[in-house]
Amino acid sequence: MEEKSYKTVYREGNVIVKEFTASHPKSNVFNEAYIHACVEDAGVPVPKLLGVNPVHGGWAIATEYVAGQTLEALMKAHPEKADEYLEKLVDVQLEVGSYRVRNLRNTRVKMEDAIKTLTAIDASTRYELLQRIHGMAQHSKLCHGDLVPSNIIIKEDGSYCVLDWAHASAGNAGADAAITYLRFSLDAPELAERYLRLFCKKADMAIQYVQTWMPVVAAAQMTKHIESERALLEKWISVAEYQ
Ligand SMILES: Nc1ncnc2c1ncn2[C@@H]1O[C@H](COP(=O)(O)OP(=O)(O)OP(=O)(O)O)[C@@H](O)[C@H]1O
Ligand SMILES: [Mg+2]
Repeated sequence: MEEKSYKTVYREGNVIVKEFTASHPKSNVFNEAYIHACVEDAGVPVPKLLGVNPVHGGWAIATEYVAGQTLEALMKAHPEKADEYLEKLVDVQLEVGSYRVRNLRNTRVKMEDAIKTLTAIDASTRYELLQRIHGMAQHSKLCHGDLVPSNIIIKEDGSYCVLDWAHASAGNAGADAAITYLRFSLDAPELAERYLRLFCKKADMAIQYVQTWMPVVAAAQMTKHIESERALLEKWISVAEYQ
C-alpha cells in the first residue's frame, strides 16, 4: 500500500499490517502502539488495535482494516471539492483536540526535546526556539502531530477514522495546526493558506498564534533530516532569530 524505507503498510483480509524493518527500534514500534491504545481507550475514532507481532526479524503493528477512502484519495479524485474536504479536515482536527488522553507526553516537552538534539542549527537559534516554547501557554488538548489528509479515512457512512498516532501528544491546538500547515506547505502548497485560514476561522484562533509555533515545528521536523525539506524548514526557523 505504502512504503517508506523503514516500514511497509499492507492489507491482509480485515487486518492492516504496518511492518517495520528489523533494524527499526523495538521501543519506537511499541511506543506507537501504546499511544494508539491510549487514544483508542479514550474513545477517539481510530482503527481497533489488534496487536504487535514479531515478523521477519522485526515487529509489526496490526490494526483493523477500515473500509472507506482517505481524505487524500478523495481530494485527488474530486479536486473541485477541495474546500469541502479541507473543512472536513479542520472539523476532524478540532474534534480530536476536544479529547483528553492521559499518559501522553506534553507537546511542549516533546518539541523541546527534539530541538535540544538538533545540531543542524546553532546554539543561539536553539535558545530562541526554547524561549519561544516557554512563552506558550500550557494546554492538554489531544494533538495528532501529523494530521494530514492521508491519515483520515472517511467511511462509507460518512463517519471518520484517524490513523498514524506515532507523533501524538497532549498540548496546544495551535502547534498541531502549525504542523498540518507545514505538511501542506511541503506537499501541497496550493492548499496551505486555505487550510490555515479555515482552521483559524473555525477554531476562533489568531493566525499569529499559529505562526508563533511555526519555527518550533519546523525545527522539530528538521530532526527527521529529509533533504528535500531542508530549505523550507531553514526559512521557517530563521524567523525565530529576529522576532
Ligand atoms: N486501519 C486501516 N484501514 C484502512 N486503511 C488503512 C489503515 N491503516 C492504514 N491504511 C492505509 O495505509 C496508508 C498508510 O498507513 P499509515 O498512515 O498508518 O502509515 P504511514 O503513513 O506510512 O505512516 P507515517 O505517517 O507514520 O509515516 C493510509 O494512508 C491508508 O491509506
Ligand atoms: Mg500516514
